Amino acid sequence: MKLELNNIYLMDCFKFLSKVSKNSIDLAVIDPPYNLKKAQWDNFKSHDDFLSFTFKWIDLLIPTIKQTGSLYIFNTPYNAAFILRYLLDKGLIFQNWITWDKRDGLSVSKKKYSNAQETILFFTKSNRYTFNVDDIRIPYESTERINHATKKGILKNGKRWFPNPKGKLCTDVWHFSSERHKNKINGKTPKLPHVTPKPLDMIERIIKASSNPGDIVLDCFMGIGTTAIAAKKNGRNFIGCDINKEYVNIAKKRLNEISLQDENKENLNNELVMYEF
Ligand SMILES: C[S@@+](CC[C@H](N)C(=O)[O-])C[C@H]1O[C@@H](n2cnc3c(N)ncnc32)[C@H](O)[C@@H]1O
Repeated sequence: MKLELNNIYLMDCFKFLSKVSKNSIDLAVIDPPYNLKKAQWDNFKSHDDFLSFTFKWIDLLIPTIKQTGSLYIFNTPYNAAFILRYLLDKGLIFQNWITWDKRDGLSVSKKKYSNAQETILFFTKSNRYTFNVDDIRIPYESTERINHATKKGILKNGKRWFPNPKGKLCTDVWHFSSERHKNKINGKTPKLPHVTPKPLDMIERIIKASSNPGDIVLDCFMGIGTTAIAAKKNGRNFIGCDINKEYVNIAKKRLNEISLQDENKENLNNELVMYEF
């Protein structure tokens, strides 16, 4: 079977990944089940069952990523610790443990600290990888100090430092309001089209940093298509799947609704490019 680029398949991740050709993917953005029992697909009999499922898709995913490619995996900090160990054992190169401050809680507890973060593991296949540091700079906070520094510079170790007009370097702690939090009305979250959609601006940060226009971005747990939308908006090609028909339909509808910035149109493979897998 051939897979089409810029398409989302209604398929199980194992079947899908077995069809993706080796060394073809520039960036994998993976937001898999967490075993938090948020939905039927997020419910595993035990932590061991969850880990065997996770390690099984990781085993199929790794060979699809190019030697110059990158991999981001979302999960709870606890699960991320196991996944990190597994990726190291598989020879991948650790780059960052990113803490996503969700501005919303995963769960409230009075017997320990309430969870308010998720982890994003950033790994690469080798030391030759894309990292567009200037494309993900963040505006400086202290405008007064920065205005002053822009004019006169700040003396640092005998050298004059001038702020970068694109902003400061992005750190490994990310503050993005969760979709649940953003959509709250009078403190209550209305039913969203997906139980755990990721914020588009956060996925765009990953795509801008770790891929270039025209690259191929893979997501084998596509949900309602956030990765595909972020890729399309930024002139990257995408490919992915989800096992839920309703989510795949919503993802396709959302994809049709977004308009591309002109500069990104030429980077997309609009004719359906067929990949022999
Ligand atoms: C955490 S959600 C992804 C949400 C997505 N990032 C978004 O923003 O919409 C995980 C997704 O994995 C899908 N899923 C679960 N098990 C799967 C499997 N075996 N194969 C493919 N998709 C699966 C679920 O249907 C769910 O949409």
